[in-house]
Amino acid sequence: MLFSQLPSRTIPPLPWAEADNIPWNDPAFSERMLREHLSQAHDAASRRLFIIQKHIDWMSAQAEQALGRPGPYRILDLGCGPGLYTSEFARRGHICEGIDFSPAAIRYARQTAEQARLSCIYQLADLRQAVFGGPFDLITFIYGEFNVFPRTEALHLLQKAQAALCPDGLLIVEPHTYRFLFRRAREAPIWYTAPDGLFSPAPHLVLEENFWDADRHAGTSRYYVVDAGTAQVSTLSASYQAYHREEYRALFAEAGFGKVKFYGGLTGQMGEGGKGLMAIIATNRLTEQRS
Ligand SMILES: C[S@@+](CC[C@H](N)C(=O)[O-])C[C@H]1O[C@@H](n2cnc3c(N)ncnc32)[C@H](O)[C@@H]1O
Repeated sequence: MLFSQLPSRTIPPLPWAEADNIPWNDPAFSERMLREHLSQAHDAASRRLFIIQKHIDWMSAQAEQALGRPGPYRILDLGCGPGLYTSEFARRGHICEGIDFSPAAIRYARQTAEQARLSCIYQLADLRQAVFGGPFDLITFIYGEFNVFPRTEALHLLQKAQAALCPDGLLIVEPHTYRFLFRRAREAPIWYTAPDGLFSPAPHLVLEENFWDADRHAGTSRYYVVDAGTAQVSTLSASYQAYHREEYRALFAEAGFGKVKFYGGLTGQMGEGGKGLMAIIATNRLTEQRS
């Protein structure tokens, strides 16, 4: 797109009409994103390691309580990124698999496993097409990415997770709250310039705008990245499905889960990190969680 075409862009956009998501799976973008995942200065793409440790402590305790036996557990991490969670679970003796479609993240995860001799294997694949395999004792889906999928796709992912769990296994999902997505979608547009960054390796201007679709209960964030040298514009966009608690409950039940419990976050506490994240633990229909 040319800069001169910006004023005639579609407003408001239809959720998911322009793109599924930001281009996590683009090789060059994924290399730049990997730097953000690994940074210990912020929690933008993955949490810093000291927070991940706390999440693993909490999830391990939840797994032990639900499964009623100590590990090692067979664990699958959906959207595993560079394997920060799988690597840490494996260091604690568990047997891990991760699936992600970011080439740089999976390369890093595999290198880590090889160098540290961790029991982790990785699949470079789109979660929507990937075969989950199993059976797993624990499946995780961490850091809000669940909401990026429209409801039909989210349901399909949950059905595949349910089928990949052992009868007493548990799924831990960390989605956004409805309130957070609603508020973010109504934030005013912002812009900034950068000499290089996540969206481009060259000097550029980013124009970000957000929309709320009240009929679909979905938000869309749109980023126009204007190259400072050529004024060429690339468009990135991601949409987010918002759910109230009862809608999450209905979705998980439709996917075949028997019991669903809600927590304030992956440490069991409310409001961690200000990103409006919560934790859902779902167990298979065949058994009840022991709590
Ligand atoms: C916010 S990051 C979180 C990464 C990791 N769970 C963590 O907390 O460190 C979201 C991850 O989901 C992955 N992802 C998003 N959509 C995906 C899809 N359709 N298939 C596979 N991976 C996907 C991205 O590549 C990215 O690594």
